[in-house]
Amino acid sequence: MSGPNTNYDPVQVTPLDADHVEAAVAAALAEFSAASTLAELKTARLAHAGDKSPIAMANREIGALPPQARRDAGRRIGQARSRIAQALATREAEIAETELARRLVEERVDVTLPVHLAPEGAIHPITALMDQMMDVFVAMGWEVAEGPELEAEWLNFDALNFIPDHPARTMQDTLFVGQPDSGQVLRTHTSPVQARALLSRELPVYVVCPGKAYRADEYDATHLPVFHQIEGLVVDRGITLADLRGTLDHFAQAMFGRTRTRMRPNYFPFTEPSAEVDLQCFVCQGASVGHPDRPCRTCKSEGWIEWGGCGVVNPRVLQACGVDTDLYSGFAFGMGVERTLMFRNDAEDMRDMIEGDVRYSRALTGLAR
Ligand code: PHE
Repeated sequence: MSGPNTNYDPVQVTPLDADHVEAAVAAALAEFSAASTLAELKTARLAHAGDKSPIAMANREIGALPPQARRDAGRRIGQARSRIAQALATREAEIAETELARRLVEERVDVTLPVHLAPEGAIHPITALMDQMMDVFVAMGWEVAEGPELEAEWLNFDALNFIPDHPARTMQDTLFVGQPDSGQVLRTHTSPVQARALLSRELPVYVVCPGKAYRADEYDATHLPVFHQIEGLVVDRGITLADLRGTLDHFAQAMFGRTRTRMRPNYFPFTEPSAEVDLQCFVCQGASVGHPDRPCRTCKSEGWIEWGGCGVVNPRVLQACGVDTDLYSGFAFGMGVERTLMFRNDAEDMRDMIEGDVRYSRALTGLAR
């Protein structure tokens, strides 16, 4: 080659002539507008605006042109590239908008549709009340003791000083498992846990025992064949009836607020002396007694509410469990949890407590808290 190419004929340098540039632009614009997704647009962009696109190739040729032709071609190619870039940006924005619109339709969530949520459960009021009762004793440092519901007849009766022909042992009261001589019963109270605690623990013993008890009782508004009791047992040196009284007063006040207890003599084989424990009505404090114009639903205007049984642990029970009665003495008490829930929460019918209606639980557990 000799000297610069002064006889440049743009027609011969096809990638740079106006028709070819125009054709490259037209092809680019056509493909951009044909692209309907961002992925397709990307392919079109690589083909028409990428490093190897006709317009880029043409751009590279510019340098080889003579000055005048270079300026023409430069302007032409520059305009072409900016038209392509402009078209690309416009199309990209259009597609992005269409895709967004499509996603907004496709992924639309109808927040007004009814949802089928599984109904939430609730803590059963009996469970809530027992927890609350236990808390009173745990706060004083007592331990929670539990025993089996299928119990040895010996622990349910003999260890607790029930004589062999005690009427409570008969089949009218007790649910025997297997034959009446099987030695196994469904425990008729939580008191066998007293014997279990004494047999298995070091002294002193301060335990509270919540649990189910079974009796061959009627199923009616005030009786359930399966019910719950909470039992307390203390065996330590120097324990007296006064300690029992103080404990019951504290328990009653922790559960019901302003109230106190009274004891009425009673008989249980495993306590001596034994008593029924009554609660002064925590609603009217006795003010409804003798005032028919101011009746009290909670105590039926009697001023006192029967709550449970209690007493000083009979030394025979302590001896049956190997406790030295010269050194140790104790007290025990037991309350029905269903009965407590009835007068505490105005629950009128015990049968409601075993229906399993979550609305009942929600209403009463809310109150019991
Ligand atoms: N176990 C007795 C009952 O079921 C209640 C009770 C417990 C009485 C502890 C005295 C002491 O009726």
